[in-house]
Amino acid sequence: MSFNDTLAIIGGFTVVFHLLRLAWRCLCGFRQFVLTELWHVDLKTYGQWAVVTGATAGIGKAYACELAQRGLDVVLISRSDDKLQMIAKEIADQYGRRTLTIRVDFTDGQSIYAAIAEQLQGLEIGILVNNVGMAYSDNFAYFLEVPDAEQRITQIINCNMLSVPQMTRLVLPGMVERGKGLIINISSEVGVRPQPLLSLYCATKIFVTYFSQCLHAEYKSKGIIVQCVAPFMVSTSMTKHRPVNFFVRSAPGLAREALNTVGHCSYTSGCLSHALQNTALTILLPDWFRMSTFLVRKFRNFATASQRDMNVCKTKETLGPKEE
Ligand SMILES: NC(=O)c1ccc[n+]([C@@H]2O[C@H](COP(=O)([O-])OP(=O)(O)OC[C@H]3O[C@@H](n4cnc5c(N)ncnc54)[C@H](OP(=O)(O)O)[C@@H]3O)[C@@H](O)[C@H]2O)c1
Repeated sequence: MSFNDTLAIIGGFTVVFHLLRLAWRCLCGFRQFVLTELWHVDLKTYGQWAVVTGATAGIGKAYACELAQRGLDVVLISRSDDKLQMIAKEIADQYGRRTLTIRVDFTDGQSIYAAIAEQLQGLEIGILVNNVGMAYSDNFAYFLEVPDAEQRITQIINCNMLSVPQMTRLVLPGMVERGKGLIINISSEVGVRPQPLLSLYCATKIFVTYFSQCLHAEYKSKGIIVQCVAPFMVSTSMTKHRPVNFFVRSAPGLAREALNTVGHCSYTSGCLSHALQNTALTILLPDWFRMSTFLVRKFRNFATASQRDMNVCKTKETLGPKEE
């Protein structure tokens, strides 16, 4: 066999390998995001109650409402009593489900979990959604620009990281006893690969991703599903309510699509649009380029410019047509 023949065979195998891989990904995507529209798990089978952290706005509120719509009673956990009562009423009026509200601040750390455990006692908790999370800056920022860094660092770690294993510790024993349960942990696309200018936030999200994947491996044989959801941009207060379009999903849209994938995958971008963005980014933006000083600077300039544009728009809206 000549050298050219050998090269041709290697090339042929490589092309077939990549085509098969692409076909497999398309098939998985089709199953995860298209078939599940028609064929999804009845979430009530996990238990009567769902617990959602950070349940009064954005993705958490959307999960709470979607779970109520699918027939579960919901424990809502957040910081603000007024908002908790408002969402509880909304769920009771719209879906006729029971709610329990727990007011805590997850930035307070270890001390809050005894009180949460007490209030959850006696409930048959089938689903836990570890959603609560916060960013540390309004914009992409260098680490030393984090405002009030001394406190902020601990607050973010308590809220985004500590809350996840601590809440899990409270509900998992009951799930194991009943031989079924679902834990959904909201990570982020920036928890998939390192993202400069969001260093602390993205580090907290990779913690959530790894914790979810390991926990799933440990407990799936006991009937527990741990699903990690890693979305791109969702229109919420965290993202300054960016307009919804093909790239930016609405929180209710994401929650509905992501909940459809339960039982079909333990790791998901949450929706088709974000899965496609993930694939595109993997191909178009390799790690070495994303981590380069050149791109970090470019990204920072772009972020500063778009923030400036948004501020100008806001000022114009506030002034109104006359003052303009
Ligand atoms: N938005 C996105 O584009 C996006 C993308 C990927 C992943 N995520 C992740 O999705 C999760 C939800 O984000 P989101 O955009 O929906 O956020 P959001 O709109 O800011 O809502 C956050 C929710 O958490 C509550 N909360 C915030 N800090 C809290 C604290 N210290 N203690 C208790 N409750 C607290 C808030 O209610 P109160 O203020 O009333 O307490 C609110 O209900 C986060 O983990 C985030 O990292 C978001």
